[in-house]
Amino acid sequence: MTELRKAIAVLPGDGIGPEVTRAAIQILSDCATAFNHKFEFRELPFGGDAIDRCGSPLPPETLAGCRSSDAVLLGAIGGSKWESLPLGTRPEAGLLGLRKEMGLFINLRPTRLRPSLRGISPLRPERLVDCDFEIVRELAGDIYFGEHKSEGKGNKAQASDLAIYSVPEIERVARYAFERAGARSRHLTSIDKANVLASSTLWRETVTALAKDYPEIALDHLYVDNAAMQIVLRPSQFDVILTSNMFGDILSDEAAALAGSIGLIPSMSRGRADQPALYEPIHGSAPTLAGKDMACPLGAILSASMMLRESFGLEIEAQSIETAIDRALEHGYRTSDIAEPGGRSVRSSELTERIRTELHDVMVHHERYGWGV
Ligand code: IPM
Ligand code: MG
Repeated sequence: MTELRKAIAVLPGDGIGPEVTRAAIQILSDCATAFNHKFEFRELPFGGDAIDRCGSPLPPETLAGCRSSDAVLLGAIGGSKWESLPLGTRPEAGLLGLRKEMGLFINLRPTRLRPSLRGISPLRPERLVDCDFEIVRELAGDIYFGEHKSEGKGNKAQASDLAIYSVPEIERVARYAFERAGARSRHLTSIDKANVLASSTLWRETVTALAKDYPEIALDHLYVDNAAMQIVLRPSQFDVILTSNMFGDILSDEAAALAGSIGLIPSMSRGRADQPALYEPIHGSAPTLAGKDMACPLGAILSASMMLRESFGLEIEAQSIETAIDRALEHGYRTSDIAEPGGRSVRSSELTERIRTELHDVMVHHERYGWGV
């Protein structure tokens, strides 16, 4: 009997997007076979690829396909080919449109060091002790979605972007962050620039007022400039970070670097719990690597395991994938971005194949000895 039946919209996008989503689909398919689930993958055009094929980065059928699926898996978008297009028509506009239209107002980006990759972090080992935190980034408001204006010409030209937040917009993402902190070590750090910005002052007031509903959570606040410094000085002080769209964009790349490579970090974007969530590696489309079988597939594969855990409640399946990844890494299978300096590296497809082999072994072992451990 089939255990679980799920429809997954797949948006490969541009550059290395198609290669890394292919790797993630292979792993998800292996998992489905082993655990008797049925995952139906629906590939849809998105980003620059959709501009070329359909005339828009987010064609209506892609949006409809995402909305009617149980979850969405996205590769990456963008590239120099579309960089001269006006801002609102570029691949990035498709991603922002998708976030808005699907109501994805929460973005979760974990920074967890994989044990065998500690050596490739740019931080010294003593600073990496207990480096395991999550960034909850607001995803549907702020300067990203306020009015963008350009006027005048030559040296009379001026431009502005409106950073705007309302109380309900702050509350809905903050509640999620408080709950997330409640399930971890009950420490939440909210990051803003309340010493300068009105939108940040409202952010701080709203988060502070909400804290009364979560007396078990220790809440503190940091200004974003200090936070950027603290993330590299002492990452162990963070457990869950809550921040606005713009600051979250910047800090999550910084945090990813601690893990050793931006190619390693997955993400979840979600809205209401009864709506489909979207999973994507946080790296970009890396056009110079595209088609060379060199891109790190781990961000995409970890996004797939995050999907299994967060959207489908399949904890054992997710853990099995993560164990398989760690074993492949321990055996020295690494793409060049995560190789030790001067160390050996393998092609992207070789790393994926090794993870599949390890996953198979993990599952055979569990079938024999049980899933308890
Ligand atoms: C990200 C990316 C996007 C963002 C771009 C591609 C629009 O940098 O997901 O972090 O700025 O949100
Ligand atoms: Mg970014």
